[in-house]
Amino acid sequence: MSISLKTEYLGMSLANPIVASASPLTGSIESLTQLEKAGVAAVVLPSLFEEQIEHDALEVHHLLSFGADSSHEAINYFPELSSYNTGPDAYLQLIKDAKQVLSVPVMASLNGISRGGWVRYAKLIQSAGADALELNIYFVPTDDRMPGEAVEQRYVDLVRDVREVVSLPLSVKIGPYFSSPANMAQKLIDAGANGLVLFNRFVQPDIDLETMQMVSRLELSQPSEARQAMQWIGVLRHRVSASLAATGGVHSPEDLIKLLLVGADVIMIASSMIHKGPKQALVLLEGLHDWLEEYEYTSVGQMKGSMCYDHCPNPKGYDRSNYMKALVNYTGQHV
Ligand SMILES: Cc1cc2nc3c(=O)[nH]c(=O)nc-3n(C[C@H](O)[C@H](O)[C@H](O)COP(=O)(O)O)c2cc1C
Repeated sequence: MSISLKTEYLGMSLANPIVASASPLTGSIESLTQLEKAGVAAVVLPSLFEEQIEHDALEVHHLLSFGADSSHEAINYFPELSSYNTGPDAYLQLIKDAKQVLSVPVMASLNGISRGGWVRYAKLIQSAGADALELNIYFVPTDDRMPGEAVEQRYVDLVRDVREVVSLPLSVKIGPYFSSPANMAQKLIDAGANGLVLFNRFVQPDIDLETMQMVSRLELSQPSEARQAMQWIGVLRHRVSASLAATGGVHSPEDLIKLLLVGADVIMIASSMIHKGPKQALVLLEGLHDWLEEYEYTSVGQMKGSMCYDHCPNPKGYDRSNYMKALVNYTGQHV
């Protein structure tokens, strides 16, 4: 029996649901080629950050003194940007090079939060030939006087601003911390998003106890993290008419299969492929194929969404009663 792994994402027909998520692995032509060889159906390039664009536009010394008291601390403020990807021009070149070399769709990623001139880069990304644009909105609202509505409006305004300048398929990558994530999803789609990427992993601060400095440490994800996207993709699947991408915590074929069952159109993976190398895509694809065969599905399309909130046999598993049940049934045996 032949099994189709095909899926649709942002209007693009993909050979399978595995997408290489934005990470250093998608930042060079060499590893992009390895990812394609291993079977990923599309790639998202690392983000071009609002700060990188402003970096170009401002006097360097002015920027480096922003937000820090000493120049040493200030330089540490944007430590990765120069090494992670080298700036707007190099970024546009990476899109062009990737489009020349790869046959899978190439999505670019813009990362920012303020309305401003940097949004024009969306247009440049489109002209460089990207197949789609992912807008990563990463905002940490530390102002105690900023109401939730104002935070949400910032997201919506930004999506509108980007939508105005591009005709490319547009997805929005957000974190999970909204009072009403489903309503927020709806607002972003109304503002012009064609898809949502759920969820951004927020990097929590840490303290170096020797130097008494705040430090940022990025750890690779754990499989349990995939359940956050499972929850909300399952709820949203039949409530929004937009593509849904899951990201966070997918390390095994089982993680991938569960996200497809709740209704994800694609699964965006970084940690697992950073940890095990691009070939991990092949392992995940084989695992998916074997599972479909064992359970007698003929296509990914047939299983996709069959366990979402509106179709699963016990939708209460998605809400508060699941929490109570989990507490009552806890035995500690997994500790
Ligand atoms: C080292 C590293 C760099 C990343 N860089 C970006 C980035 O530039 N833009 C972005 O939207 N996400 C970035 N991410 C997040 C990933 O794209 C992905 O959404 C997240 O890590 C969750 O997926 P995972 O559990 O498979 O790692 C990065 C993740 C890692 C580990």
